Amino acid sequence: MTDLWNDRAQAYRESATHASGDDLDLVVEWCEPGPGVNVLDVATGGGHVARRLRERGATVVTVDAAPGMEPDAIAPADHLPFADASFDAVACRIAAHHFPDVLAAVKEMARVARDRVVICDNTFTSESAEQADRLRDPSHVRNYGVPEWHSFFELAGLRVVDEAFMVRDTGFEDWLDRTETPADARLRVRELLDGRVHDGRLELPTVVLKGVKA
Ligand SMILES: C[S@@+](CC[C@H](N)C(=O)[O-])C[C@H]1O[C@@H](n2cnc3c(N)ncnc32)[C@H](O)[C@@H]1O
Repeated sequence: MTDLWNDRAQAYRESATHASGDDLDLVVEWCEPGPGVNVLDVATGGGHVARRLRERGATVVTVDAAPGMEPDAIAPADHLPFADASFDAVACRIAAHHFPDVLAAVKEMARVARDRVVICDNTFTSESAEQADRLRDPSHVRNYGVPEWHSFFELAGLRVVDEAFMVRDTGFEDWLDRTETPADARLRVRELLDGRVHDGRLELPTVVLKGVKA
């Protein structure tokens, strides 16, 4: 799957949906960035979380499975090449639905964090929408519901101290273009999305959770 992501690197760097948003603001805020604070950005993609954290004075290390994203370290989220408690905060935004073993990844983030872990991801809406996601993007594994996220945090030894739910949106065609979804699959993807496309925009229910080491 990393080849797919290498090819998409520029699209994710330039994506307006990824470059800004209330979810990004919250992830940055909840990492409590500032001079002297070091943060790990897991599955950094186009590097938007890292950029915003650096603007706030934090020292940031980026990690991603795809070399094309040009992270500081190339590694999967479930095998982070860092010592225990190496970072004040660990962030991971709009990526966990691609991880083959999400619980192992959350445990790794908790292990390398000294204090806090902030994760933001799209949430589960229906099996039909999961099918749409997989048809659009073969690297999609699964979106999870809020209760599942709570159990991942708990099993990773993280106590949830802040939580927000929001509905982001993105241009439906831009969303398909980013993953180069073939033209003949696009109508089917739309049908499977259960009416979540309005005026050319796709609704993306999203959760942001902040956990601290229990
Ligand atoms: C949607 S992009 C991330 C967006 C980025 N965090 C942001 O806020 O703009 C998803 C990223 O997850 C990475 N990825 C996919 N599977 C991964 C895995 N198992 N471990 C680490 N990174 C992975 C991809 O290479 C890609 O860069």
